[in-house]
Amino acid sequence: MSLRLAENTELRALEPWNAEEFAQNIDRVRDYIGPWVGMAHMVTDTDSGRTVLQRYADKQAAGNGRIYGIWIDGKLMGGTLFRTFDAANSMCEIGVWLDPAATGGGLITRACRHMIDWAVCVRGMSRVEWRCSPENERSGAVAQRLGMTLEGVLRSEYPLGGVRQDAQVWSLLAAEWRARK
Ligand SMILES: CC(C)(COP(=O)(O)OP(=O)(O)OC[C@H]1O[C@@H](n2cnc3c(N)ncnc32)[C@H](O)[C@@H]1OP(=O)(O)O)[C@@H](O)C(=O)NCCC(=O)NCCS
Repeated sequence: MSLRLAENTELRALEPWNAEEFAQNIDRVRDYIGPWVGMAHMVTDTDSGRTVLQRYADKQAAGNGRIYGIWIDGKLMGGTLFRTFDAANSMCEIGVWLDPAATGGGLITRACRHMIDWAVCVRGMSRVEWRCSPENERSGAVAQRLGMTLEGVLRSEYPLGGVRQDAQVWSLLAAEWRARK
């Protein structure tokens, strides 16, 4: 039921029954991810954590999103998601977060490679997107490591913490992914 990312690290579905540890994870990383990730503002306790995970369970059932957790030594430390998954238009968007104590080891890049491979090679996606603030250098670095191309900046694209934010749009096309493999 899980994918091994490293000796002590697994990637597996993050589901409503994980709400308590999900809320605890977000609580621990709130200050670190808060400037970049909407979930940090939405998940404030187990109930709001369950609401987010149920929304993703519903998205998965409808075929338009998924969320995974990254467990290190059995402790939930972060995750990856298909924020959108639009099979009709053959495009999806990946999002990520990780406890700062676990960054710097390539875990997110590895997890995203699995997700892109599944999206492109199993589900036939033509385009995988990555959106991040132009100020979020670590996030942009992941997109670059994955072989994505920076297409431009959407100005004042989304609200976060009451302030509208710009968003870089990165993308990877199916043919580019296959060529990299
Ligand atoms: C964005 C975020 C997930 C990136 O985490 P990360 O650990 O830097 O990402 P990666 O898994 O790609 O790891 C890359 C780092 O591991 C190192 N690394 C070690 N082994 C590696 C390997 N086999 N493959 C790739 N990188 C490796 C890289 O050199 C890099 O380290 P550096 O930044 O010190 O140069 C993290 O910073 C985060 O949670 N930020 C806050 C939330 C956020 O911004 N989310 C994205 C919103 S758009």
